[in-house]
Amino acid sequence: MDKLVIEGGARLKGEVTISGAKNAVLPILAASLLTDEPCVIKGVPNLRDTNSMLKILRALGKVAELDKGRVSICAGKTGNYIAEYKLVSTMRASFCVLGPLLGKLKKAKVSLPGGCVIGVRPVDLHLKGIKALGADISIDSGYVIAKTNKLKGAYVYLGGVYGSSVLATDNVMMAAVLANGKTVIESAACEPEVADLAEFLIKMGAKIKGHGTPVIEIEGVKHLHGATHSIIPDRIEAGTLILASLVTGGDILIKNVQYQHLGSLLDKLHEAGAQIERGDGSLRVKGNKRLKSVNITTLPYPGFPTDMQAQMMSLMSVTPGISVITEKIYPDRFMHVSELNRMGAHIQREGPHAIVEGVKILSGAPVMASDLRASACLVLAGLAARGKTSISRIYHLERGYENIEEKLINLGAKVWREKE
Ligand code: UD1
Repeated sequence: MDKLVIEGGARLKGEVTISGAKNAVLPILAASLLTDEPCVIKGVPNLRDTNSMLKILRALGKVAELDKGRVSICAGKTGNYIAEYKLVSTMRASFCVLGPLLGKLKKAKVSLPGGCVIGVRPVDLHLKGIKALGADISIDSGYVIAKTNKLKGAYVYLGGVYGSSVLATDNVMMAAVLANGKTVIESAACEPEVADLAEFLIKMGAKIKGHGTPVIEIEGVKHLHGATHSIIPDRIEAGTLILASLVTGGDILIKNVQYQHLGSLLDKLHEAGAQIERGDGSLRVKGNKRLKSVNITTLPYPGFPTDMQAQMMSLMSVTPGISVITEKIYPDRFMHVSELNRMGAHIQREGPHAIVEGVKILSGAPVMASDLRASACLVLAGLAARGKTSISRIYHLERGYENIEEKLINLGAKVWREKE
């Protein structure tokens, strides 16, 4: 296993280009199961999670290859409807093969993904939506078994205790595109990645309206065809690099950004006093020593993303004042708090809140990454710290950040890999 070592203190400078969005590409790859015709997906990031989804597609009979940011998918030996535990357990997003398998093959057997370190993560909303479309669902030996003669359009309310669900919206939308009649998903997730999936489905011949809003209307069609699609830029990678510039007092130009997708983060950073200039598909971020602390509360899109909470905590750890960070999507997503405290941060966890008292400087330390965004938070802390930080279990970072070491090195960071 590798660890990432960072010698902190370098001011990041230069240009960096954002990769395609992980959370868009995964369901879009799954959507290719809805047709036997070839699909081409462009701007695909070469990530551990992308490769996990490609393995699942191959296990389900597709021929799928990633080459220089382009995935070509075509039908191989079709008809397999079982997504095995050993594949689904590596990545929760694989559960979104349920909807397309059921829509296309009328049957699906998909392993339950289980919980993960950021929380319990149930799938009740996925199952509620799929059931509403007329599928028979049973759970046997850790697998969801879904069958139908023909899915029928229905009214589906997908709001849960923590608001809307991204992958449940994806799953139900993908099941509904080949159903008989009209489906209305209310309290649908509005995340740009859900809208990007809808755009791909529309290119395949689906009839979808309202994607990107809480009410999505889908008129079922008989057949979907192959399509070509380019993935939207990754807003979480962009957000992480914005914060990398701010924590290091840097000056970087971030290219391939859709800043409309970053509204809540940019607004908070503006409130904190950050200087961020918008260009044509780019952002220039200049570090400013006089930032002030701000409070944040994570919410479904367009609220502040939970996937930026940990990284924002790193910035607030070195910003004067007190910041209250409230996590409303995954109330236990605070594994990074104790690691930041080991680097000299002053953070106190109180239920779904973290109270961060900014300190002058963090000091490098050996720390452990617990999940994808917690790893990014520790990278930011390491860049800002005095001395050497070594982050173990760095494979988490590879799940969601394409070539991140190379990108940081090009910006002047002192980062390298060592064997543990
Ligand atoms: C997606 C993202 C993930 C992000 C999360 C929240 C992908 C591949 N992953 O995950 O990066 O952190 O959205 O923005 O897109 N819930 C239920 N029942 C369900 C489903 C979810 O109660 O059936 C709860 C979850 O536990 C959580 C909240 O709803 O509290 C939102 O989760 P959800 O949007 O479903 O997350 P994912 O789609 O799994």
